[in-house]
Amino acid sequence: MDKALKYLDAHRDPILNELFELLRIPSISAQREHVNDVRKAAEWVARKLNALGIEAKVFETAGHPLVYGEWLGAPGKPTVLFYGHIDVQPVEPLEEWQTPPFEPTIREGNLYCRGASDDKGQLYTHLAAAEAWLAADGTLPVNVKFLIEGEEEIGSPNLPAWINEHRELLAADVVVISDTAQFAADYPSLCTGLRGIAAFEIEVRTGSADLHSGSFGGAVPNAIEVLSRILTGLHDEVGRVSVPGFYDDVDEPSAEEKSSWSRLPFDEATFIASAGVKATWGEPDRSVLERIWTRPTLEFVGIMGGHQGQGHKGIVPARAVAKCSARLVPKQDPKKVLEAIRQRVMQLAPPYAEVLFHCGHGTPAVSIPTDSKWVAAAVAALEKGFGSRPVFIREGGSISIVTTFVRDLHLPCLLMGFGLPDDRIHSPNEKFSLKDFQRGARSSIALLQELSVR
Ligand code: BES
Ligand code: MN
Ligand code: MN
Repeated sequence: MDKALKYLDAHRDPILNELFELLRIPSISAQREHVNDVRKAAEWVARKLNALGIEAKVFETAGHPLVYGEWLGAPGKPTVLFYGHIDVQPVEPLEEWQTPPFEPTIREGNLYCRGASDDKGQLYTHLAAAEAWLAADGTLPVNVKFLIEGEEEIGSPNLPAWINEHRELLAADVVVISDTAQFAADYPSLCTGLRGIAAFEIEVRTGSADLHSGSFGGAVPNAIEVLSRILTGLHDEVGRVSVPGFYDDVDEPSAEEKSSWSRLPFDEATFIASAGVKATWGEPDRSVLERIWTRPTLEFVGIMGGHQGQGHKGIVPARAVAKCSARLVPKQDPKKVLEAIRQRVMQLAPPYAEVLFHCGHGTPAVSIPTDSKWVAAAVAALEKGFGSRPVFIREGGSISIVTTFVRDLHLPCLLMGFGLPDDRIHSPNEKFSLKDFQRGARSSIALLQELSVR
């Protein structure tokens, strides 16, 4: 292992330069004009894996392609399945980027680029670790498989079916995912829970066409007014969701979890500053960490309706739409939650408006038990990579496919993320600390060693 660690340090620049090639591909899965770029990124990763001696192929799905690769040269040893994603979020608003979103740039020890932290840079720590082992030792201490997809940011719509058809390929002892963050700088972290998500849209129609607001305004219903009333009816004044049944299946965290979280250095002022907001918001009887890690939410993501262009227009809009999503916590069923919200929305709909409720993608939350030998291996590996003992945290974000790994394949998962809370993933000026890239890759090198002796 020491040889691999040395290789990693000695080859820092060439390794980063290769990551830059991957980062330059604008593989935005949500935008049609980038379909070929997602494919290019998949092909790039498959080529890289093959060059390392990890036999890999691009597989077609009904949507974007994915990459599967394997190296099974350690018979009798455990098999590790690494999962990551090479698709990224859209980059708008462009004018807020200090350097172009797909031009990897180093400033003050950070690597700036869309995908630097979410997830190309984090995923690449494991490619770097495999490269270091194979180049320095000519072998890996365990069997490895890589499953790298191009649809994570759109909810992995085609991956569950693909996995179901390739179950034998994915046989493994443990899944390793680096697509989360550390609690704070220098707090290596293992994530024990992700929230789930249920997306939906509320559409309001009050007439067959927009009308002149002089001739009709004040005497006919306005779609935006109706939609606004419905939206404000979904929370109470202090931020609790006012949908009957919404909190029915919500579990409280264990006393043990709560007390370990209370020892984490959470500072509300730093949180407020890093979020760029004036105050926190939400359930007043819950701490900020509890709100993000243990409580479900109902968020408004976008709102459309009426005149959105330049200047003014005298109309009464006939149609308005809100895009929304609920973050879910363990035991909540996305279908059940959506049905509860739908009923509340319909209850708020006035008789003179047509209100439509469209269900989108949904995935339940996951929780990861901490009492396994795999978690013990990850703890030891992070300690080796970062020089300090990791903490157990949860995250408020979601990674859809983890549900399939945990619930359908019964695979233990290690969520060992190297990002930071202020990496601005999904936002302009996304970054990843180069120090954390290096410490992440070191941890991955150590993890392969640790897993080989379990
Ligand atoms: N890497 C994130 C998930 C994440 C975000 C973990 C923040 C920890 C903290 C992932 O790429 C992501 O953005 N997931 C989406 C999933 C959605 C499209 C179903 C999310 O959480 O919105
Ligand atoms: Mn991600
Ligand atoms: Mn993401």
